[in-house]
This record gives sequence, C-alpha cells and structure tokens, in this order.
Amino acid sequence: MDTGIINAAIEFVKQIFENDYSGHDYFHTLRVYKMATDIAVQENADLLVVQLAALLHDVDDRKLSPETYTHKNKAVTFLRAHNADEELIEEICNIISEISFRGSDSVVPETIEGKCVQDADRLDAIGAIGIARAFSYGGNHNRVIHDPDISPVLNMNGEEYYNHVSTTINHFYEKLFSIGDRMNTFTAKKIAKHREKYMREFISEFLDEWDGMR
Ligand code: ADP
Ligand code: NI
Repeated sequence: MDTGIINAAIEFVKQIFENDYSGHDYFHTLRVYKMATDIAVQENADLLVVQLAALLHDVDDRKLSPETYTHKNKAVTFLRAHNADEELIEEICNIISEISFRGSDSVVPETIEGKCVQDADRLDAIGAIGIARAFSYGGNHNRVIHDPDISPVLNMNGEEYYNHVSTTINHFYEKLFSIGDRMNTFTAKKIAKHREKYMREFISEFLDEWDGMR
C-alpha cells in the first residue's frame, strides 16, 4: 500500500467536500479524522484503519452521493488506486456502513476501530459545532427553525428517520439529545457529556426567548 495514503485521502476529501454547505463540509471530515485518531490512541485501536475509515466515511453518503452509496464506489476506487489490499478495503467499507445514524435501526459497530469512528462522527453532531451544523443543514434543506405546532417524533426507525421532514429544533429531540447515551468508548462518553449539557442549555435559552421570557 502507498505510504502517503493518509495524505492522499486528505487531499481526496478536500476535493469532494470543498463546496459543500450542507453540514458535511471538508472541515467536518477533518475534525472526525482528528477526533477518531485521539480516541483510537486511548483505545489502542488500529490507527490506519480508523484514520482511513474516518477520512472516507462521508464520500459515499446516502444523501450526498446516492448513486455510489450501496457499493461505496468512491471509497473503494480511492483505496484500490492506492494499492490497499482487499481485506482492508472490506474492513473500511464495513465500518462506514455501520456508523451512520438510522434511528432505532442504528448499530453498534463490531470492531473497536468502528466504535472509534462512530463516536468521532457523532461527537461532531453535538455541542457548539453540532448546533451550527444543524442550523446550516436546516437552512440548506429549506427547513423552518422552529414551529411550536410541529411536535418531534421520537423512536423512528431507519426508513422513517430518512424520510422524515421536520423543524431544526425538533432535530435536537429526534437525534441530537439521544447521541450522548449511545457513545461506545469511555473517552467519547466524557466529551459527549460536556457537549450535551451545552446543547441542552442552548435549546432551553432558545425556547425561553421564543416564549418572551428573556
Ligand atoms: P453524519 O453523516 O455526518 O453523521 P448526517 O448526514 O446525519 O451526519 O447530518 C449531517 C449534519 O446535519 C449533522 O450535524 C446532523 O445533525 C445535521 N442534520 C441531519 N439531519 C438534520 C435535520 N433534519 N435537521 C437539522 N440538522 C440535521
Ligand atoms: Ni459525518
């Protein structure tokens, strides 16, 4: 395998996500890569597997690239071009399939490497950055910020979650507040606790302002 594969992967995702404004920009991938690396060091996980899966985790995303989603064509083509062996490619594709949030159909990854990448991706959806990404996604998808007449729908399965159209505030109840409890590793659980608290304070402040109490 090419020794410069990590740097090549960083360049590859930069090209793909440079002009994305839907909450999946290049810096999201870069943060997931860095966070996954930090968690992997704590967990003694295989760094190469974690880093490649983190860098490639969104290139065949169901929403962004539906035509390559099933077979992870972009990730596989990149890895083959850099002489990764087929076993490693399969391992990385399995991790990418396991980590995505699918409501009650979400899965706990089988390997410690998958657990590290899933935790890193989920950590980037909560806290201050999570708030920013949620409103960026909402604006990008023409979603209203808040509508008190539209209630959140809890415990959706994968298909329901995928097809659900709601407000951005509801997204906090439907996904973001449930993420902290689903972290796999001790390292991520600790970080998630702080980020979740901050996010809950933000929503509470938001709703107080909405009601004219502040
Ligand atoms: P990823 O694949 O990186 O885990 P997603 O594709 O689920 O994330 O979403 C990308 C970002 O957009 C995340 O920060 C997520 O919370 C946010 N997002 C996804 N769906 C919605 C929604 N319906 N309303 C607001 N934000 C959303
Ligand atoms: Ni992601």
